[in-house]
Amino acid sequence: MKRSSFASNLGFILAAAGSAIGLGNIWKFPGRVGENGGGTFIVVYIAIVIFIGVSIMLAEIAIGRHTHLNSVGAFKKINKKFTFIGIIGVLTAFIIFSYYTVVGGWVMKYILTYATGADFGGDTQAYFLGFITQGVQPIVWQLAFMALTALVIIRGVSSGIERISKVLMPLLFIILIAITVRAVTLPGADAGLEFIFSFDPEYLNFNTVIAALGQAFFSLSLGMSIMITYGSYVSKNDSLPGSVSLITLLDTFIALLAGVAIICAVYATNPDLIGAGGGGFAFISLPNIFSEMPAGEIFGLLFFVLLFFAAFTSAMSILEGVVAFVSEEMKLSRTTATLAVCGVASIVGMGYSLSQGSVPTLVLPWFDFANGLRMLPMGTVLEYLTDNLLIPLTALLACVFVGWVWKPESAVKEIRIGSRSGFKIAPLWIFLIKYICPIAVGAILVITLIFGRSVS
Ligand code: PHE
Repeated sequence: MKRSSFASNLGFILAAAGSAIGLGNIWKFPGRVGENGGGTFIVVYIAIVIFIGVSIMLAEIAIGRHTHLNSVGAFKKINKKFTFIGIIGVLTAFIIFSYYTVVGGWVMKYILTYATGADFGGDTQAYFLGFITQGVQPIVWQLAFMALTALVIIRGVSSGIERISKVLMPLLFIILIAITVRAVTLPGADAGLEFIFSFDPEYLNFNTVIAALGQAFFSLSLGMSIMITYGSYVSKNDSLPGSVSLITLLDTFIALLAGVAIICAVYATNPDLIGAGGGGFAFISLPNIFSEMPAGEIFGLLFFVLLFFAAFTSAMSILEGVVAFVSEEMKLSRTTATLAVCGVASIVGMGYSLSQGSVPTLVLPWFDFANGLRMLPMGTVLEYLTDNLLIPLTALLACVFVGWVWKPESAVKEIRIGSRSGFKIAPLWIFLIKYICPIAVGAILVITLIFGRSVS
């Protein structure tokens, strides 16, 4: 069977950027900036993206392109003993897919709310909590979001993922620019800009670094088998260093734009909300902010459409990572594999959705040294499991694998193929992937397991 591939380098770059640019950029990043001292966080974040994020993404994409296989097959082909790294990565992607689609469903519901008159009954918090605890309704939205994602994946890499990304990514960009222009021209927005461009050395501490590291991994879709899978569809004529630079640049640029837009809007309307990141931010605080803005309903609608595009292209990539594995390793057709994965994911996702309130008894155990053994809502445990444990673990193992098992020289050989400039910074990259990246990622793992805080 002929394996699929991206039809063009641009298509690959937009699809990978579509994976990277997601909920993490549009609402997690601005929240993090708010919590961690504005400009200080941004400087630390950018340094981490350049030195660690780019290095690991390059390593993952090189593994994929070298083997032209799904992420489990890729590790197996290079060194059979390390197949388990691919398996952990696919498992991570599967769990994330099951709950990412729940949030995707919420975004669709909010688009409908805005499109039909933005009636939140005067209390956005009551509205949100009322909706997510309704049991069946959020599940129906989740299934709708999942079904849309599945349709694209069944169509395939080039006529599904690539084609949709080429349309949605430019649209996302235009909408975000419109929202940013509106936000920075609101009266009072200059205080927000000042906050973003301020540098306060007091915030230059360990917490900020750990928060930035976790954010960078999640935002660049690292440690979850996705970049390996996407890399496996890339042609040997394409330049990997060039593509990776562009993907990370786009991802960071979009996060910064979203940060500027949201922080300026918060400062102009309700500065007390700065620092109140967290899950409810997009669904509770932002609708309040929009309701205080002139023409806020239109911007609210645009914002949720933007969030939908971002979440949709990310969800496609997570599902592709799992489907590529199931269809290639278990020799199933793409359609059967997609339906099977979605079937199981929808059950896990229902658990996530119901544990938000409708069924408070849906709990799972979670352990960290700071808090001991606790029973937490299933949704919270799934998020902790992926963000605090599985993502950093897979990324750490992938660094060790490339740096010490596959050997960076072999990776460099792969990276040089198709690269016009010949990848002159190879010695620096080898140093980063062998030493700096594993130490940094190992630190996230240990710290979150000991102190029990979420870092992504
Ligand atoms: N990178 C995406 C974001 O920023 C998140 C994501 C997670 C994408 C998991 C794919 C898989 O939201």
